[in-house]
Amino acid sequence: MMSQWTELEKRALAELENCRDESSVRAWNAKYLGKQGEITTALKDIGKLPKEERPVFGQEANRVKQALSDAFDARLKDIREKEIEANLNTDAIDVTLPGRPARRGRLHPSTQTLRAICRIFNEMGFQIYRSREVEDDLTNFELLNMPPHHPARDMWDTFHTSTPGVLLRTHTSPGQIHVMRENCPKPIRVILPGMCYRYEAITTRSEIMFHQVEGLCIGTRVTMTDLKGTIIAFARRFFGANRQVRIRSSYFPFTEPSIEVDMDCIVCSGKGCSLCKGTGWLEIMGAGMVHPVVLKNGGYDPDRFTGFAFGMGPERITMLLHAIDDIRQFWANDLRFLQQF
Ligand code: PHE
Repeated sequence: MMSQWTELEKRALAELENCRDESSVRAWNAKYLGKQGEITTALKDIGKLPKEERPVFGQEANRVKQALSDAFDARLKDIREKEIEANLNTDAIDVTLPGRPARRGRLHPSTQTLRAICRIFNEMGFQIYRSREVEDDLTNFELLNMPPHHPARDMWDTFHTSTPGVLLRTHTSPGQIHVMRENCPKPIRVILPGMCYRYEAITTRSEIMFHQVEGLCIGTRVTMTDLKGTIIAFARRFFGANRQVRIRSSYFPFTEPSIEVDMDCIVCSGKGCSLCKGTGWLEIMGAGMVHPVVLKNGGYDPDRFTGFAFGMGPERITMLLHAIDDIRQFWANDLRFLQQF
């Protein structure tokens, strides 16, 4: 007669044969070998047996338990191997497929404009001078002919640091002082591109940070005519060969005389449109002849040397070029904007 244990073993093994995946094998394991499983339950009956039958009962139980446990391990291993094999066949990586293209980056529109400006002035014989963004009050204002409390300081609302007299430059003009002091009494022809900061309400036209490109030319026979010629040459190379340039008188403490430079509107060529607000002209930079006080502060004798300087905003120029209506776009980190350039 088949013992209770042999019968259980046969039944369990047959059932295991029919388990096709890991979860059913695990359910099988719980059913027979688990804490509430049939083997555990059956073993509890050992106490009801006559004493002499207990050892055989126990031995049989352990043999079957071991056999089922071995069968479980083997079946699980088998099923896992089959699953891996199936995955390899269905999820196989096709190494001959073309890779996913790496997305190409691009230069920020301001950088593109800065580089174009630098290229043009390089061709005209201007070198690039990099000046600091953290300045002192002396260089940002005083040496540029703006003593403390000078009303012209109102044109430059300033970020001050916790160190008295140390501030973020409000324009690239303090760079003029650095170049002059490093080079006097040699002639100078440089541009100074870089970031500037102003404590301002942010609007579509003004930001708290923006680039400027300063130009400085110093020599013994530099005149307003050289300034005009340089600006016109730049405008035509940057905006197109037929551009007209107009000069208005203006005021900066560090230039005398001071001018504001306009260019005929790139959209309507002077007829009047929404970009130029009907005037036909677009403002492109401030400029002038370097003030004698500034020349002296830079180490140059104003009786022998003259010079011109200009300052323009690459973001403003980029806005004109691409009809961008909001300067905040430049630092908003919005790819939808940046990817258009
Ligand atoms: N620094 C002036 C500004 O920020 C621009 C400027 C530069 C004007 C050089 C004249 C000469 O507005």
